[in-house]
Amino acid sequence: MRPAARTAGLGPSPIRVLSEGAPPDTLPLGLGEPGWPLPEVARRALAGEAGPCPYGPNGGLPDLREAVAAFLGTTTERIFVSSGSQGALFALFHAWLEPGAAVLVPDPGFVAYPMLTRLAGAEAVPYGLGPGFGLDLEAFLRALNATPHARLAVVNHPANPTGAGASAEALAAVASACEARGVLLIADEVYRELHLGPRPPGLRDVTSSGVVLGSLSKAWGAPGLRIGWAEGDPALLEPARRLHAAMVTAPARPSQQAALALLQASDTVLRSARAALAQGFRALSESLQDHFGHAPAPPSGGFYHWMPLPPWAEGDPLAFALRLRDEARVVTVPGLAFGPGGRRHLRLSYGGDPETIRTALCRLAPFWRTP
Ligand SMILES: Cc1ncc(COP(=O)(O)O)c(C=O)c1O
Repeated sequence: MRPAARTAGLGPSPIRVLSEGAPPDTLPLGLGEPGWPLPEVARRALAGEAGPCPYGPNGGLPDLREAVAAFLGTTTERIFVSSGSQGALFALFHAWLEPGAAVLVPDPGFVAYPMLTRLAGAEAVPYGLGPGFGLDLEAFLRALNATPHARLAVVNHPANPTGAGASAEALAAVASACEARGVLLIADEVYRELHLGPRPPGLRDVTSSGVVLGSLSKAWGAPGLRIGWAEGDPALLEPARRLHAAMVTAPARPSQQAALALLQASDTVLRSARAALAQGFRALSESLQDHFGHAPAPPSGGFYHWMPLPPWAEGDPLAFALRLRDEARVVTVPGLAFGPGGRRHLRLSYGGDPETIRTALCRLAPFWRTP
């Protein structure tokens, strides 16, 4: 027996490989998740589940869809609740891509975009980012114009792995170029609520077209609940909702109850998430200043630091990340894992406890001083 050819590109992600092979006392700056505890309201909602546990509607519990809509300032029929925003991504790609189509993806960008594109039998066409890794309108339009078979495009702001954002002007221009070409634009905004400064611009500030993705996994501190959403024209979401139902029937009900409690407590939950993020960023900034002699620019959002590699590591970034893991005992992710545009960087996650971040950066510093 041989598995279907489409599974061939589904190897374990380099992020998992680096984390899973790590020696026991290794510090985790690799995984993309918040390290602070699940907020109390969600723990109470999980503990309060009693009686039968039925499936529930395919696209999410009505109360939860309503709460997401209220948070976003939109209407319930524009919300489809999914098993993580990854579930929405998978469903949207499979609902809207024919084999042979193309998807514009950021380079560097979240590893799932090219992986899901290939799985749908389509071609991932990378577009470059601006000097600070933000959305670069000209680079996007160049890729769009050179790709007549593009059917879908993804923008991610604030971005994984760089923390960079997109201006409202760039988002508006990208959206109208996609509309003019009949390309479905997906704005992945899962890090949008996790900001240190002003709330970064979103697609809905400039247009009601395209689909916007959100998630409870980052700012609401609950990646294990596996609850995310897609917001957009119901006609765009409906085929994806059916596809998602074919895969999982409905998102897990206890998770949806906890998600509802989290969304209803958004003011306090998000305030403390941002306070935790600020502590992590302070630990990162002070450690970079002390050990590397420079301070990082604050990100548009999220908890990633996009760290330039020392010149001697550029030839083999994976070997360098393995050295950091096995000798410095710190798990990081080589930027190359996010596409060729990431080959000169390393992603460090500062979503964890500040003391861990300080110790990890102190351990990493010698590897930037000498080969
Ligand atoms: C940019 C981006 N989008 C989507 C996801 C998927 O998140 P989830 O499925 O937990 O909502 C992630 C996870 O790391 C991410 O970084």
